[in-house]
Amino acid sequence: MGIKKITWHKIAESLGNISFGANGMCVVEADGKKISLAKYQNELFAFAYKCPHASGIMANGCIDALGNAVCPLHRYKFSLKNGRNITGEGYFLKTYAVKITEQGVFIGFDENCFFNSL
Ligand code: FES
Repeated sequence: MGIKKITWHKIAESLGNISFGANGMCVVEADGKKISLAKYQNELFAFAYKCPHASGIMANGCIDALGNAVCPLHRYKFSLKNGRNITGEGYFLKTYAVKITEQGVFIGFDENCFFNSL
């Protein structure tokens, strides 16, 4: 049995301090790990730096009209909301929680705690 704990890592003082590319995406570092960010319809999404298929750099791709991240290498599409591979190749893009507060912009990493292994 386990519970999910989220550890928050600050990536910027505010959304205005993050420079997004013309494609609405950029790469940031949280706890030494590269993460892709995307701005779509006034919402912020965080997901893996590399595509789960063959490591395309997701932030070099684009966001389609339905809010999916499109990988630049083979154009597989992933939902920004939940990482679902909507073009059906069976991959899964890791997504991260995001929160914006007066203290800054944060990305959340899951940490699984397994009590039965203590
Ligand atoms: S590396 Fe992303 S679709 Fe192939």
